[in-house]
Amino acid sequence: MKLTRANFRIPEDLSYLNCAYLSPLHKDVEQAGLNGLARKREPWRISADDFFIESNQARERFAALVHGDASGVSILPSVSYGMGVAAHNLPMGEGQHVLVLAEQFPSNYYPWQERAGAQGASIRVIDRPKSGNWTDAICRAIDDQTAVVALPHCHWTDGRLLDLVRISAACRQHNVPLALDVTQSLGVLDLDVNVIKPSFVVSAAYKWLLGPYSLAFMWVAPELRQGKPIEHNWLARKGSEQFAKLVHYREDLQGDAQRFDVGERSNFALLPMAIAALDLILAERERIWSGIKGLSDQLIQGARRRGFLLNDPLERAPHLLGLRFDGELPSDLPHVLAEKRVFVSVRGNAIRVAPHLYNDESDIEKFFAALDGVL
Ligand SMILES: Cc1ncc(COP(=O)(O)O)c(C=O)c1O
Repeated sequence: MKLTRANFRIPEDLSYLNCAYLSPLHKDVEQAGLNGLARKREPWRISADDFFIESNQARERFAALVHGDASGVSILPSVSYGMGVAAHNLPMGEGQHVLVLAEQFPSNYYPWQERAGAQGASIRVIDRPKSGNWTDAICRAIDDQTAVVALPHCHWTDGRLLDLVRISAACRQHNVPLALDVTQSLGVLDLDVNVIKPSFVVSAAYKWLLGPYSLAFMWVAPELRQGKPIEHNWLARKGSEQFAKLVHYREDLQGDAQRFDVGERSNFALLPMAIAALDLILAERERIWSGIKGLSDQLIQGARRRGFLLNDPLERAPHLLGLRFDGELPSDLPHVLAEKRVFVSVRGNAIRVAPHLYNDESDIEKFFAALDGVL
């Protein structure tokens, strides 16, 4: 079933422009979850193989999305978990620093802060440049004292876009690893690990991957797949496929990125949901980008007419638009709009509008009509 509004259960009078918060569930994804729950009702139908088959299918889908290999994919509960793995596996020396953006999402900040503190290193924050672009500022800040560059593809508050091709080239020039949180971009913006060559790429499933909450994926560069997990579960040990032999403890870990999987990663409801969602995205990648871009062009026109400040066109992601207002936004704006059945977020001083293919032009019109009644 395609990614059309009819295949989501969104009431007709409701404009949901908030995929950057939580995606709604496509009917296929919902059904996969319900089927998964029902399986647990009858555990005699769940075989030992089932602990591995769906995990590996999910790895394959995520790998396809980042143009990587399935053996490089770990299954996690959250982005903070993945960044915790990254922070504990990348070398960091005294006096070095980790580069992050101003107001970066906390899950891509706290793990670095904790690790840097423990190693005598520090966090260096790259402020939003008032003029010029953020990519230039980041590239200028990378030097021989940089231990890690930890970034998103676009900023979670307003969609401000980074040029990862240029940033990754600057990282390679200084031999600095790049860790990416692509939760607010993957599923719409393409990311090719063969081009960007990151050390770690993490994404939560519940936004632009259209999947369930409490699940995330991470692709790990080949040279880091012999690293140390941050917890020690039986599935991550070699030979875990043979349940009868689990009584014989083993030191050796599963090869490749499986060793970083979270305990109980074989979730019988969440993994089938993620597989269904990733299949929908992989089948419609072109249409997702172009459909959302059309809506975003309409949003930009309306925002310009009303005098909102927008990111520079070269730094604008189509799916996540921060409309900045010259002045204070009413603190209850999301609630007032929600009463008019329009759903967006406010992050910082930006109204964050995040459409997907279940939206159409009438949602954008309704958003502006509701906004005009408030501002
Ligand atoms: C950029 C970004 N990363 C990560 C997350 C979620 O992080 P976690 O999975 O650690 O809860 C969000 C949620 O809003 C986000 O916007």
